[in-house]
Formats: sequence, structure tokens, C-alpha cells
Amino acid sequence: MEIFVVPNAGGTGAVAAGILAAVIRSRPDAVLGVATGGSPLPVYEALAGHRLDMSGVRGFALDEYVGLPAGHPQSYAEVVRREVTERLHLDPASVFVPDGGAANPEEAAQDYDRAIARAGGIDVQILGIGHNGHLAFNEPGSALDSRTRVEALTERTRQANSRYFDSPGDVPVRCITQGLGTIMEARQLLLVVHGADKADILCEALTGPVSPECPASVLQLHPHVTVVADEAAAARLMVVPAGSVHGTGLVKVRAGAAVA
Ligand code: F6R
Repeated sequence: MEIFVVPNAGGTGAVAAGILAAVIRSRPDAVLGVATGGSPLPVYEALAGHRLDMSGVRGFALDEYVGLPAGHPQSYAEVVRREVTERLHLDPASVFVPDGGAANPEEAAQDYDRAIARAGGIDVQILGIGHNGHLAFNEPGSALDSRTRVEALTERTRQANSRYFDSPGDVPVRCITQGLGTIMEARQLLLVVHGADKADILCEALTGPVSPECPASVLQLHPHVTVVADEAAAARLMVVPAGSVHGTGLVKVRAGAAVA
């Protein structure tokens, strides 16, 4: 695992976008796993600035709410359309989001895993982390080898996401989420984290026990994980300078609680 620590959220975007741009230049038909929420927004913004030919790039979203009407502005289909497909000039026919409006969401979830496999798997999966350690919408208790499926959202996650809705009661109670096992099949995982409110959970995920109680701890088992965090989010990690990339300090994570 490698971790880049940068001064602020804008820096996380610049470094993560640089990593993605290198992948896309070497593989113009790369398959990106796409996260929503606030963490990856600086990444998409910075990646747009690279002005790459994105016409061959394909994308798979991590998750989607179940039960929002088609076209709801907070459905992840709409968020991905606005923030990713349009901003990066991807072909809309090559960007996929789980079908939260399907008559049979469980079947839609299984189809989604098959579609990822048909695309040849995900080259780089962009991830954020929830305050309770969730990855995608794999809430605490999710099996580390789980597949894409229908899940209930915890109250904590609904509360966190209520900032995007008119009222907390409008946040859906169910979702379709890529499973932890599905996520682990991506060839590279790129976790983007900013803000002091993520410092405790980031430390727990990267240095604590690997356990379904902290779903993001599964990252410790993946052979190619890159974490891009701002200083506030990395504050509880002990880091060891290991070189310099993109003009920032490339650091390796060590279990521990102090800042180097
Ligand atoms: C979004 C997703 C979630 C978020 C997480 C962090 O597609 O799967 O796991 O990455 O809730 O959200 P933010 O970035 O808004 O703090």
C-alpha cells in the first residue's frame, strides 16, 4: 500500500487525477470504477483539466439508491452523469450505474457483477470512505467477500447523506452496492480522503484489524492500493517518507497513531 499525503482536498484531486491520467494514457479503453459523494469531486475536476481523450474509457459506479424516481437529481445515475460522464466527456453508453429502479433489484445487482466481468474487470476503482468505515454502501457487518447486492443503509449513513436531500426522511433506506469481494477484484484501488472528520476511521481502516466491522479494512488485503489523503485526514497515521512523486511526499503507512 502506498499513501500520498497532501496539504488539502484540492491536492488529493491533483494527485489522484495524475494517477488516473497515467492509467488512461497507457490504456485508452480503461475501465474506471466511479465513486460518488464529496471525496472524489476534486479528482474529477482535476482529471478534466488533463484534457485526455476519454472517448474509449468505460465506467462502473459503485452504488445506487433503491427506489428513487428515474431522473431524481440525487440518484447516483444523475450524479454520475453530471459529475463524471459530462465533465469528463465519457460516452454515456459506456458508463453504468446499478439499476435502483429495477422491478427486481436483487437480479439487477447480480446482472451488474456480470456486466463488470464482461467488461474485463475494473482497472482502477476510485473509493471514498464513510465515517463508519463503509466502502461503497457496504456497511459494518458486510462480508469481506460479498458480491453486488441490495443492502439497507444505516441511520448514520442516511444522516450523512441527508445533506443532499430536502429532508432526512427523503434519503432512501435501501441501495444496490458493489460488494467488498467485487471491489477487491479491481486491479487497483484508489482511496481518496479529506477532512479531519475522517482521520479516526482512516487510521482504523488502514492499521486496525481486518474485520467486517470496519469494511474498509479489507483494503489491507489488496495487492495494489493507493491512498491519497489530505493532512487532516492522515493526522492519525504514522508515515515514513519513501521518496517523492508528483512533487508531494510519497509515504508508506505504518501501524501507529502518531504523525511523523
Ligand atoms: C459513494 C460511496 C460512499 C462514499 C462515502 C464517503 O459512491 O460509495 O462509500 O464514498 O460515503 O462519502 P463522502 O465522500 O461524501 O464523504
